[in-house]
Amino acid sequence: MSEALLKVEDLRTYFATEEGVVRAVDGISFEMRRGERRGVVGESGSGKSVTAMSIMGLIEPPAGDIVTGRIVFDGQNLLELSEDEMQSIRGGRIAMIFQDPMTALNPVYTIGDQLMETIVLHQKVSKAEAREIAIQALRDVQIPNAEHRLNDYPHQFSGGMRQRVMIAMGLSCSPDLLIADEPTTALDVTTQAQIMDLMLHLAEDRGTAVMLITHDLGVVAGFCDTVQVMYAGGIVESGTIDDIYHNPQHPYTWGLLGSMTRLDDATQHRLHSISGAPPSLIKLPEGCRFRPRCQFATDICRQVLPVLRPVGNAGQMAACHRSEELDLKALSVDGEVGAAASEVTS
Ligand SMILES: Nc1ncnc2c1ncn2[C@@H]1O[C@H](COP(=O)(O)OP(=O)(O)OP(=O)(O)O)[C@@H](O)[C@H]1O
Ligand SMILES: [Mg+2]
Repeated sequence: MSEALLKVEDLRTYFATEEGVVRAVDGISFEMRRGERRGVVGESGSGKSVTAMSIMGLIEPPAGDIVTGRIVFDGQNLLELSEDEMQSIRGGRIAMIFQDPMTALNPVYTIGDQLMETIVLHQKVSKAEAREIAIQALRDVQIPNAEHRLNDYPHQFSGGMRQRVMIAMGLSCSPDLLIADEPTTALDVTTQAQIMDLMLHLAEDRGTAVMLITHDLGVVAGFCDTVQVMYAGGIVESGTIDDIYHNPQHPYTWGLLGSMTRLDDATQHRLHSISGAPPSLIKLPEGCRFRPRCQFATDICRQVLPVLRPVGNAGQMAACHRSEELDLKALSVDGEVGAAASEVTS
């Protein structure tokens, strides 16, 4: 089936605060194929988690509101579903893994009870069958002694093990889409690599589409097929890993790549070093939102908000007035971007 698994159209999610309306996600559109692994990157506050929460139906009114847009999942607009219908999709066909498993796990119930509860809720199986599925799910994420560990409480697992349990829980109902919001940020680099590797194999084997939210461009390169770069509530660029890392079309993407200078040191993969700060989402600048930080900005950038449009390679999109004129690939940030990009994707 060539129909997109997920189609987000002009999604706008705002929050009412005392200071004013925060336009956290402000008109994003994108699609995901079945089995696609899509990285979502961008600085803190760019709207990555709010995008995920909007898809999961977890935006809490009255402060949070999806003011417009459609989220079409397998042909069905999720924004038109009742809370009951949404509940059966959440954790079933769409699952989510959060950064901190302790906030998602209940400390007073055993891992087994929590896994089995999810399974019974979404699959028509008996308790005994749910137990077997739960044991298998723990084995799939390589938890030794699974049938005994089922009786343990969350605090009896290490951080890495707890994240494995979350993955087991997320995948236990064979979702079509798994959203992982910084699933390994809290873990040490070695455990992080093991968990990403495990997730990659499980997702590949089952054909699960994954939306991976992360600050780590190295992890994205190793895990994803496609990337979307977010800035101040919008998508500024999207394309395949190769497009984004080797042929960036937006100065912001180019700046992020420039921040990956020390790739031999895995702890340095995080993106951080573009000078200046993102704009306030309450009072956005006129024209391009990246303009105040962009060394290439001209008059039109001050006046007109650029829309995401095809530029660069086939399928690649960027929201920059100057993409065609600028040859970002030929320019280097600190003389390093080309080398950094080849290193991370090789
Ligand atoms: N419940 C809320 N009330 C008010 N503002 C919110 C709420 N949730 C998120 N926001 C705001 O929406 C914006 C986008 O937040 P979001 O959590 O999506 O960022 P993010 O890209 O996930 O950042 P990070 O990388 O730090 O996780 C931020 O400015 C944030 O302060
Ligand atoms: Mg976030």
